[in-house]
Formats: sequence, C-alpha cells, structure tokens
Amino acid sequence: PIPIILDGDPGHDDAMAWMLAQSSPLLDIRAVTSSCGNQTIEKTTYNALRVMTLLGIDAPMAKGRSGPLVAKTMNAPTVHGESGLDGPALPEPAVSPQSMTAVELMAKVLSESAERVTLVPTGPLTNVAALLLSHPELKPNIERISLMGGGIAHGNWTPAAEFNILVDPEAADLVFRSGVPITMAGLDVTEQALIFPGDFERIRAVGNDVALVVAEWLEFFYRFHREKGYAGAPVHDAVAVAALIAPELFTAEEMHVSVEVAGDYCRGMTLGDRYHATDATPNARVLMGVDRDGFARLLVDAVKTYSAP
Ligand code: BDR
Ligand code: CA
Repeated sequence: PIPIILDGDPGHDDAMAWMLAQSSPLLDIRAVTSSCGNQTIEKTTYNALRVMTLLGIDAPMAKGRSGPLVAKTMNAPTVHGESGLDGPALPEPAVSPQSMTAVELMAKVLSESAERVTLVPTGPLTNVAALLLSHPELKPNIERISLMGGGIAHGNWTPAAEFNILVDPEAADLVFRSGVPITMAGLDVTEQALIFPGDFERIRAVGNDVALVVAEWLEFFYRFHREKGYAGAPVHDAVAVAALIAPELFTAEEMHVSVEVAGDYCRGMTLGDRYHATDATPNARVLMGVDRDGFARLLVDAVKTYSAP
C-alpha cells in the first residue's frame, strides 16, 4: 500500500476523504494531522480525533499550526457549522494527540519511513509549507502531494480563489514552488464530483454506523451548496484520496500552476498555464474531469467496508 499522511481541517468533506482512505487496502495511513481552516485549530483537532475514533484509524495524530503563515485566520462556519463538523453525533475521542506538533510528526514519519510517503492535505497548506521550510532535506522523502485546493477556472470563496488556497496563499505559493510532485484536485474537478440526494439514500441503506453518519454529513454539507445552486454535494476533499486509489476515474493535465499572493481581487488564485503560454515547466498534475458515477460508487463501496451495525 501507499504510505500516506492525512492533513486536514474536518470539515465534512475532509471526514469523508478520511473515510475513503481508511477503507482502502491500497493506502496505509501513517499519521493524521489537523490544520486550521474550516474552524479553529482546537475545533478541527477535536473533530479529527472524533473522526479517527468513528472510523477506527489507528495512527499517531498531532495538532497543526494555529493559523496561516502570514495571513489572518479565516474560518468557514457557514459551510461546516460552528463546530466545524455540525450534524450527526460523533463518538468522543478514544485517541489523544501526540505531544509533538504536526510538522514534527510529519518529519518523524518521513524520516523513519523506508519508502517515500504521500501527503494528502485537504485544508489550507500551512502545515505542509512549514514542514518544507523547516525540513527541506526531507523533500526527497515525499513521493507526492495529493492536495485539494485551488481551481484553474474559478474560485468559490472569491470569484478568483478557492477556500484552502485563499486562507493561506503564502503557504500554497511555497508548496507549488517546492519541486515536490503535486496532484491538484481543484474546483475544476471537485465540482463535478457531486454526490446527489439519491446517493445519500444508497449510503444510508448500507446501514452500519459509518454509513448513517456519512449520510447525515452529506445532508448537512449539501444544505449550504443547494442554496448556492449545486445539484449535489461536492465532496471536494475525497477527490484528493480518490486520485490515489482510483486514478482511472480522472482526466488530468500537466501544467505550471502559480499562486497569486498579492492583488485586490485575485489573492489566492491558482493560475494554471493550461495552454503553455509561458515556458515554465509543469509543476502539477491538475485533475480536470471525473467519472461522476464511478466516484459515487467508490464512496458507497467504501462505506460498505465498515463493520455491520
Ligand atoms: C475546501 O474548503 C473547505 O470548506 C472544504 O473542506 C474543502 O477542503 C473546498 O473549497
Ligand atoms: Ca477541507
């Protein structure tokens, strides 16, 4: 299996990404770290521990940085609620965070692993950027960064910027310049990765504890998006995991992506040189299309791997 580190800000779609990762025999979760994004780091850390407990993820966990490298902290209660993961009741954490920081835990896993490790950030890129800044010698130990963030065509938090990149553009800039291979699951593909209300029912019908929670997460998460005009719940973060376990579901283009860190309107924008207008060497594999039904099937099948009620 591919060794991975999950770094996220759960968050409904982060939690569903982790559900997909834990279900797959193709992935080996070596560590989990929290990031500050959808909610404060205290809340996302608590949510991470509750989600790990629900899913039975048995890996070391550490709390991430309390806010972006340079920018002011920004959260998304309108999407994920005051807790950062509103909706169904969750078990209290049966696991505790390590005393080390997220960056220290990532560095430990990377330096101790016999194989290269893939990072899967599904929140702002603060921890990953801090890791690359403090441990540049560990770059060769990173196989790839499969991230959810950005959008070549548009944003969702501003017309130009997607939330994860907008929260910490300086961190994203550092990551895209790092030379580490990147798979970018941006809005171009994640807004096609829609889970429809009919799928919620297929998931609920699976009937185990995880299925019932996931169905409720989808309902909560869809409420916000339905008002915005989406036909289903865009389970953004699960795409960064799906790209590792079912790459055949996606179409991708290699291109150079840069992050706008200045600007009155475009801060946090990811500029993809899709038609090679410059001679900048591609630094990212950008996912552009998905087999929607295949993606939905992947999620339903993932839920079925959890034990019966
Ligand atoms: C991203 O923003 C967050 O609200 C989601 O968890 C996802 O990572 C989508 O723009
Ligand atoms: Ca997220």
